[in-house]
Amino acid sequence: MSRADREKWDARYAGADEGMAAAPSLFLARVADLLPRSGRALDVAGGAGRNALWLASRGLEVTIADVSQVGLDLAASRAARAGLALRTVCVDLDDEPLPAGPWDLVVDTLYLSRPLLPVIAAALRPGGVLVFLQPTVTNLERHDKPPRGFLLETGELASLVPPDLEPIVLEESWSEDGHHEARLVARRR
Ligand SMILES: C[S@@+](CC[C@H](N)C(=O)[O-])C[C@H]1O[C@@H](n2cnc3c(N)ncnc32)[C@H](O)[C@@H]1O
Repeated sequence: MSRADREKWDARYAGADEGMAAAPSLFLARVADLLPRSGRALDVAGGAGRNALWLASRGLEVTIADVSQVGLDLAASRAARAGLALRTVCVDLDDEPLPAGPWDLVVDTLYLSRPLLPVIAAALRPGGVLVFLQPTVTNLERHDKPPRGFLLETGELASLVPPDLEPIVLEESWSEDGHHEARLVARRR
């Protein structure tokens, strides 16, 4: 990632208050029954921690990885205020390794890196779960952002699922809050 991109994310989080997007992803909450309640969880490109905090509140030992130290600091201070433990790792996932597993759960919402999916699969413990969500090109019918470079093609997610993952949920539709998304819950074989 370029320095300008990192600065863009830092500036975005610097302008945010601690109350921003505190609720977890609607999809993550919807598939709660499919997720482990203990063990190690990784929130990939987790930003200000809306998903990480929710996972920690459910009893998981959570690491949040992101390129923005400002976002991670926000996540850490929210966790401290909520009395939750949270490990933060500042990492550029374009160039640096994923924090070391094995993981019982990996969550990746709204961060698209196609080459990362097999890396995540390999870092899951057998039986471990991946939750992945990304808008598709159909989202452009209602929203200008994210731009096309950050969107999955229609039907593409099925072709990206690594062979060592078994899909449990694989769907593509408009969400309750009006975004067109591809969504996956998969278990490491
Ligand atoms: C749209 S936000 C999504 C945040 C969070 N996953 C969520 O759903 O609320 C995208 C996140 O990806 C992070 N990001 C972008 N490029 C990255 C990279 N190369 N390595 C790690 N994190 C990155 C940004 O800092 C930002 O927090």
